[in-house]
Formats: sequence, structure tokens, C-alpha cells
Amino acid sequence: MLCRRIPWFWRPTLEQNSTILKVENLAVSYGHVKALEGVDLVVKEGEIVVLVGSNGAGKTSIMETILGVNQPDTGKITFRDEDITGIPVDKNVRSGLTLVPEGRGVFATMTVLDNLLLGAHHNLKDSSKKLELAFDAFPVLGERKSQVAGTLSGGERQMLAIARALMSSPKMIMVDEPSIGLAPIIVNDIFDILVNLNKEGYSILLSEQNVYKALKCAHRGYVLETGRVVKEGSSESLLNDPAIREAYLGA
Ligand SMILES: Nc1ncnc2c1ncn2[C@@H]1O[C@H](COP(=O)(O)OP(=O)(O)OP(=O)(O)O)[C@@H](O)[C@H]1O
Ligand SMILES: [Mg+2]
Repeated sequence: MLCRRIPWFWRPTLEQNSTILKVENLAVSYGHVKALEGVDLVVKEGEIVVLVGSNGAGKTSIMETILGVNQPDTGKITFRDEDITGIPVDKNVRSGLTLVPEGRGVFATMTVLDNLLLGAHHNLKDSSKKLELAFDAFPVLGERKSQVAGTLSGGERQMLAIARALMSSPKMIMVDEPSIGLAPIIVNDIFDILVNLNKEGYSILLSEQNVYKALKCAHRGYVLETGRVVKEGSSESLLNDPAIREAYLGA
């Protein structure tokens, strides 16, 4: 098993049925390119919510704007009852929000250990304990702690990216297309890791083009087309929706 258990140390407090993240009427543009328009979404404590959409639909833009990488044109983002619209990334990370970026985003020339320490840079106080727990949860990273990240396999790199995000002691994890470019068997491992994290209480906002697998592990989903939410619902209802099946599941 690749992810043995996620330690209590990281476990966020669960407030059942309360909203952890609320996005209202979000619009984002890059110069004159409109990327998002009127996006509303909610993630409740303890949920896995998936953003479904093809290339350019706006999945990364949503996550990066929530984190504070992009400034929205309009809209409001509320995280744990605080208005975080336009708040810089480092402050949001300190408040318990983190992003595992598209393409893994580990520092290829740095060791596994240094990548993990970077994840805890805003609070190095407990870093040795967090490291111990990271290696306990992801033994393969412990075995390879002195290896430069660029020489890890794709799956190991994705695990490192997830472990690094956990080093900031988040309450909610956004994971942008974790399965891209990975062999199907490794994709299953990565989804297992996300489900395990969720069982430990982490709320997760996930984006995926592997729509079937993502909906199978998520509670709810939002379907995006050219920057707008065109459908939302429980994973079950989306999996059974004929239009979704035809567009994303090849059925
Ligand atoms: N830095 C940027 N400059 C200009 N346009 C951008 C920039 N980033 C994204 N866009 C545009 O915004 C739209 C949404 O892109 P985004 O990356 O959010 O989509 P996505 O759903 O994550 O796509 P993918 O599945 O390919 O990752 C696209 O039309 C894209 O071309
Ligand atoms: Mg993207």
C-alpha cells in the first residue's frame, strides 16, 4: 500500500455539513481573454468535489483564483467564513488552503526532503515531526528522501506533490488534474490516496479529465464549459446523466 495511513497530526477538525469554501459569481480574465464567468460553487467540510471539463474550460483558473494566484474581475470567495477574495497566496496557505498544481510542480533539481521542507516553509516549527509523518504516510518518499525530485517516477512525483501540500497543515486541498500522464494502475493509487485523505477529514476540490474515476470517488461535481458552470449535482446523478456520459465517458 502506497499511502499507509494519514497521521492524526494532520487531521483537520471536521464540522459536519458546514461550508468550507464558497465561490460566488466569479469572473476571471487574462488580458482580454475571459476565462471564467459567473461561477458559483461550494465545498462542504469533508467533501470531495470534482470540477469536470475539457481543455480550457477553466478548472485551473478556478483553483488558482481561489488560492490567490489570480485576481478576479468580480465575485467573492469565502474560506472558513472569511472573505479571501484577492488575498495573497501565502496568507491563504497559512489559513489552511493549499493547491497541488497541474503537472505536479515539484522542484526537479531539489531533493525529496527539500521539496517537503519547502511545503512547510511558513511554519518550520514542527517540520521534523511533519517530515516523520510524511515518510510514515508515504514510505516511498522516505526511501528516496535524498534523491532529486526530477528523477522520481511520475506517480512518485505526484505523491511528493501531495505530501508537500500536506506539510502546510491544510484544512482543504485543491488537486489539479492529478492523474494526467500516469499509467492506469498508478492513477488508482493516486485516487486511493485522495480518498484516504478525505476519510481523514480533508475537504478536497479536485479537477480531472479522468471523469469516470473522479466521479466514482467524489461526492459531488460541477461541469464547466468555456468558463461557466453548465451542470452540477451528486456524482451519482452526473454519472447517470446521458449528456455527461456521451461527452465525457464515451458512452
Ligand atoms: N496565463 C494565461 N494567459 C492567457 N490566457 C490564459 C492563461 N491561463 C489560462 N488562459 C485561458 O483561460 C481559459 C481557461 O484556462 P484553464 O487553464 O483555466 O483551463 P483548464 O480547464 O484548466 O484546462 P486544461 O484541462 O487544459 O488544464 C483558456 O481559454 C486558457 O487559454
Ligand atoms: Mg488546467
